[in-house]
Amino acid sequence: MFTIITGAQFGDEGKGKIVDLLSSDYDMVVRFQGGDNAGHTVVVDGVTYKLHLVPSGFLTGARILIGPGTVINPEILAKEIGILRDAGAQINPEILGIDAKTSIIMPYHIALDELREAARTEKIGTTKRGIGFAYIDKIARDEVQMADIADEARLRKRIKALAPEKKAAIEQLGGDPAAIHNEDHLSKYIEIGKMLAPYITDVSYEVNTAINEGKNVLAEGAQGTHLDVIHGTQKFVTSSCTIAGSACANIGVGPTKVDNVLAILKAYQTRVGEGPMPVELHDEVGKHLGAKGHEFGTTTGRPRRCGWIDIPLLRKSVNLNGYTGIALTKLDVLSGLSTIKLCTAYELDGNVLQYPPLLTDQVARCTPVYEEMSGWSEELDSMTQYSQLPQAAKAYVTKIEELLGVPIDIISIGPGREQTFRTK
Ligand code: GDP
Ligand code: IMO
Ligand code: MG
Repeated sequence: MFTIITGAQFGDEGKGKIVDLLSSDYDMVVRFQGGDNAGHTVVVDGVTYKLHLVPSGFLTGARILIGPGTVINPEILAKEIGILRDAGAQINPEILGIDAKTSIIMPYHIALDELREAARTEKIGTTKRGIGFAYIDKIARDEVQMADIADEARLRKRIKALAPEKKAAIEQLGGDPAAIHNEDHLSKYIEIGKMLAPYITDVSYEVNTAINEGKNVLAEGAQGTHLDVIHGTQKFVTSSCTIAGSACANIGVGPTKVDNVLAILKAYQTRVGEGPMPVELHDEVGKHLGAKGHEFGTTTGRPRRCGWIDIPLLRKSVNLNGYTGIALTKLDVLSGLSTIKLCTAYELDGNVLQYPPLLTDQVARCTPVYEEMSGWSEELDSMTQYSQLPQAAKAYVTKIEELLGVPIDIISIGPGREQTFRTK
């Protein structure tokens, strides 16, 4: 069985939690895009793990793989492996594999990300992790790959060829090339490269072999559908394809192998960074969602913008991903609101739209058309089955299913693994 999970909104939907939960049924969990801009939280037995690169299946004994479509900062990965080991998790080459062709985030990518963002008159609000510039180099065929940092001679040759262009790019944006690109940085990468060398593998081969042997493989997406570099709200997006089809392309598995595509969908909407968000709330409800949902970025600590659920955007998410099911997260956060609103359409220039307009500046001019439902006061976080949910919460779940035409299979009512149940 091959299952792909993606975030249906703008990231931080609770992918880490759901991947951890599901991974006990899977033999392999694979990250297929993005880098350490991702922050996936897994909470088990009261211990919180904040993961940026290591796939969220690391606690269940599954083989965990980082695919060639990702971009890796080796220093962050080494640190993360250390933190997880200190916490008692087993991370060794038997458990973790990294594709030889994975792109490496170099110090100059991070510097260029910071310099470029500082120079923009209209900011994107990137995580400043060098993600965009690492992907630029992949497309430009100027990348440094995992296999390069694992081999000193290979890395030095590669860097010698790339250095003049990188130094010029840093200088052009007003940075100091000597501080950013020097022997100290290179030595550190060589040292980490040696440590990571035993983890190198061929992810596409491993995944295809596993599927052919009847094993279960879970592909873990990062970011969210509307941060997709092709289909999202450009330019306020990340630099990779975040939608389900990207799992096939980035891992190297044919689309005929996919069995399920699961949406991770927050019961309301959040967004970090800039970009249009027609449902954004600046009132008491927005504060309720932010405070009760602890809506602060896992990677940058920035407050997340909060609003009601946005059905027009989700209709597009269903199209872009071909979802077969939904895991609805953070339903507990809506407790205590007397009225729940759903944005079921947009209004733009006097027209009512069921589906988002094509261009980002048009989305930015949309105002939400809301339908109201009764809220509920009961706290949900200690409930153990669907039947215990208040009638109003069940009605909200059913309404979302009807509006999107996709079944909600899983409901999450807290950060813990046990705070989850199936609807049927
Ligand atoms: P991801 O990037 O999609 O993996 O999500 P993040 O980990 O960045 O953000 C989700 C946050 O919500 C984390 O702090 C989770 O521990 C937490 N979380 C996940 N599911 C639930 C839930 O159902 N209820 C509540 N209250 N918190 C949740
Ligand atoms: P997870 O996997 C939420 C956002 C940034 C910024 C934009 C571009 O935890 O859901 P980048 O550094 O990627 O060039 O920034 O994308 N962004 C995320 N927002 N969750 C994430 O990941 C994100 N990764 C990037 O805030 O708006
Ligand atoms: Mg996150």
